[in-house]
Amino acid sequence: MWPSNELTSRLGIDVAIIQAPMAGGNTPALSSAVSNAGGLGSLGLGTSSVDDARAQIAEHVKSSNRSLNANFFCHDEPEQTEDRSAAMRARLQPWYDEMELGEVPLPHAPFTTFGAEHVDMLKTLSPKVVSFHFGLPEPDLYQAVRETDAVILASATTVSEARWLEAQGVDAIIAQGLEAGGHRGTFQGADPTAQPGLFALLPQITSAVDLPVIAAGGIVDGRTIAAALALGASAVQIGTAFLLCPEAYVHPAHRKELASARDDGTRLTQLFSGRPARGFRNAYMDTFEPFEADAAPFPTQLSLTGPLRKGAGESRVGDVMSLWSGQSASLIREMPAADLTALLVAETNAQLSRLAKR
Ligand SMILES: Cc1cc2nc3c(=O)[nH]c(=O)nc-3n(C[C@H](O)[C@H](O)[C@H](O)COP(=O)(O)O)c2cc1C
Repeated sequence: MWPSNELTSRLGIDVAIIQAPMAGGNTPALSSAVSNAGGLGSLGLGTSSVDDARAQIAEHVKSSNRSLNANFFCHDEPEQTEDRSAAMRARLQPWYDEMELGEVPLPHAPFTTFGAEHVDMLKTLSPKVVSFHFGLPEPDLYQAVRETDAVILASATTVSEARWLEAQGVDAIIAQGLEAGGHRGTFQGADPTAQPGLFALLPQITSAVDLPVIAAGGIVDGRTIAAALALGASAVQIGTAFLLCPEAYVHPAHRKELASARDDGTRLTQLFSGRPARGFRNAYMDTFEPFEADAAPFPTQLSLTGPLRKGAGESRVGDVMSLWSGQSASLIREMPAADLTALLVAETNAQLSRLAKR
């Protein structure tokens, strides 16, 4: 009963499961295990240098000759960062003092947006799939990616964003519901708290565009995959459920939160990076919650919060680091990525035949 469709054949995969790109959390071991199991392994390379991205893709290719999704960020480069970070730097100073970290530094961007060097890399490495978060690259760069023959995917968090992506000629749209872990892919400035959950967003996007739609947010097992397929998805993109796989790169404090998650443990915040992202609440988020608006522009806020991670030491690091997670983390299971992919397929088949018999 498992669907093969136009999208799965274009992506070169056997099962309609995409392991979500997760910059910082994914590894070539994770992406290659999922690709070898018939799904689509992804590498979130948005926070990597071009050299590091090149090395990660090469590592994937060493372990798998199946499709790979290389994923990049298309954020605006931050401006006036010194002025726009002054309030946040003042608020953080007492924490720096307590951890004996000195003065809060002036902000800097730890990585760049998608640019010409990324295109050069894609021309030589030719991953089968390229996906974008936070919109699309500048038109000339986008055109150059098109010419590599990669299948192009991009995230939408509203119907308006999905329509815009369709007009730019992407091949499929990732409908990212409010449940999703990590950064919202939003790029038209929508209020994150007003964005729809996946149950509302997915059918509205499938009705609004003529492209295949990939469902993302809160999908963790056969029931949730079957629900996404019933709502019109051609495939699912799953992040949080892959974080407990041994192949993922997850700090022990983060792993502990994932393993003991509850349904109401996460919240959206821009306090870590300067853009809204979903993660488990911790002391840092709770303390600075009233000052969300003071966060420095993405991604420079990361350069202000990063030192806290070092200063906190092992015992308190979970209080200050980002602990990205979607809303369904209490249902995720710890097992190797190939086993998880196979289990998700088996559960989905069982769920679909149960529903057919009703
Ligand atoms: C730890 C983590 C990091 C993420 N990083 C990225 C990223 O680099 N690029 C991207 O397109 N999406 C990223 N996402 C969002 C996922 O693509 C996807 O929308 C989300 O994981 C789906 O929700 P779920 O976590 O409930 O499965 C990230 C998600 C998580 C949990």
